[in-house]
Amino acid sequence: KEIQKIRESLLDWYDHNQRVLPWRRKNTNPLEIEEEEEKGKRAYGVWVSEVMLQQTRVQTVIDYYNRWMLKWPTLENLALASLEEVNEMWAGLGYYRRARFLLEGAKMIVAEGGGFPSTVSSLRKVPGIGNYTAGAIASIAFGEVVPVVDGNVIRVLARLKAISTNPKNLVAIKNFWKLAAQLVDPCRPGDFNQSLMELGATVCTPSNPNCSLCPVSNQCRALSISEDKSVLVTDYP
Ligand code: ADE
Repeated sequence: KEIQKIRESLLDWYDHNQRVLPWRRKNTNPLEIEEEEEKGKRAYGVWVSEVMLQQTRVQTVIDYYNRWMLKWPTLENLALASLEEVNEMWAGLGYYRRARFLLEGAKMIVAEGGGFPSTVSSLRKVPGIGNYTAGAIASIAFGEVVPVVDGNVIRVLARLKAISTNPKNLVAIKNFWKLAAQLVDPCRPGDFNQSLMELGATVCTPSNPNCSLCPVSNQCRALSISEDKSVLVTDYP
């Protein structure tokens, strides 16, 4: 029951509070059925945006994303680009391996001719796509019921469950993936995953989290402990 309440609260909050971003679908009606081809097109945009977002803030990414999609609107367009063009487009974002992986990945997916990989296991075979990116694409673009864990999600879950292990510890990270897998909403996995990332980015921030705006503050163990004054919400990094 508690899991159901957390899912409903997060999804409802996300529906009303998500930022409008160019890689997000305008119409988030969960009942709408998308064609396979449409999903592949969205997957390409989700992939580009998630790779850009890995080391770069949302505000900076928006511009780069829009320019990238103008130059290479489809995966097939990107597959024909040169490394020089891709690096030039990436200039200023840093970690140029990310751009090279996007190009190599696009070439590989197009060469295999089977459409955009739609599951975590098939996405993991693409160069540069790790657990995080695979989970994001599979859940957001294809609705696969899989979790996504990044630094924001770890902080949100650590506070929600009052888990005070070092979040950089590999065993702890594995446990956050397990916890996220138990929580992910089976009907709207992509929106649910984004609601956790969005909450961590905008409300459940590292310092001065805005608990009064949080949709799951009633379920938050760190907040309830904070109220006894023994630990602070901000003790969960
Ligand atoms: N940070 C990285 N990916 C994100 C997403 N899909 N939504 C919100 N924040 C993010």
